[in-house]
Amino acid sequence: MHRIRHWKEILIPYEQAVEELKVKFKSIRNEFRDMNEYSPIEFVTGRVKKISSILEKAKRRNIPEDRIEDEIEDIAGIRIMCQFEDDIYKVVDLIRKRDGKDLKIVYEKDYIKNKKESGYRSYHIIIRYPVQTALGEKEILAELQIRTLAMNFWATIEHSLNYKYKKNIPENIRVRLRKSAEAAYSLDQEMCEIRDEIINAQKMFEEKSNNVSDIVNNIQLLNLIGYEKEAKDFQDKFEQIWENGSLAELEKLSETIRYVVRRYQTFD
Ligand code: GTP
Ligand code: MG
Repeated sequence: MHRIRHWKEILIPYEQAVEELKVKFKSIRNEFRDMNEYSPIEFVTGRVKKISSILEKAKRRNIPEDRIEDEIEDIAGIRIMCQFEDDIYKVVDLIRKRDGKDLKIVYEKDYIKNKKESGYRSYHIIIRYPVQTALGEKEILAELQIRTLAMNFWATIEHSLNYKYKKNIPENIRVRLRKSAEAAYSLDQEMCEIRDEIINAQKMFEEKSNNVSDIVNNIQLLNLIGYEKEAKDFQDKFEQIWENGSLAELEKLSETIRYVVRRYQTFD
């Protein structure tokens, strides 16, 4: 009983750290959204480890009670979920840029490039984080887990099975979990490829429409400054490319007209 009350007090700065870190990572997401930009962060969760789990882990690892805060690194835990695998590394970069500012990186573990035996994938960063308390500053350890939605889905289910079987998952289920971890990962890979294609298609559409409006504007300008013949030639060329030309040809035509317009304008 005494022990529990004592632990409740110890956990106060951890509660504060989790709240602060959640706000900080959520506001990164909101900043991107406010700028109408794609956010590498989809959503953020956090928790303080339960006293029972802390004591259990300490016992399991033979950690004396006065070493718990130094040796259990995930008393404060933050999870950052991303849509795509690439985004994980963007988030890691954002965190690295803050190293030595509002947090200190202790070490990183890339369980994506080096997946765990279970099939688990995520990127972990252990940080030191200073909390301002009524009794002054206290630096605590926190674990940041960065993962895709698919990795999170798998880890959540695997964790609850582990809980159900008290860490003794039968071998046949373990095999199926490893297989489903690969399925989740190939979903991530597939989505990444689809995204690249969507982004490329959007870029091409934009380039095409920019070129078309340049060409149309410059043909109009040629007409205005009295080069009707040239304007007509370019108009024909444009219609021809529009029918069955490529983006590269459109770009080339746009450049040529721009060059011609500039030359005629300076001769005036
Ligand atoms: P614990 O696994 O927490 O005892 O610490 P550790 O020092 O072995 O660190 P590790 O990086 O292995 O795990 C830290 C955290 O990552 C865990 O507390 C889990 O939240 C998560 N994790 C690691 N491995 C697995 C796994 O196989 N399945 C699931 N679902 N989560 C895992
Ligand atoms: Mg472990």
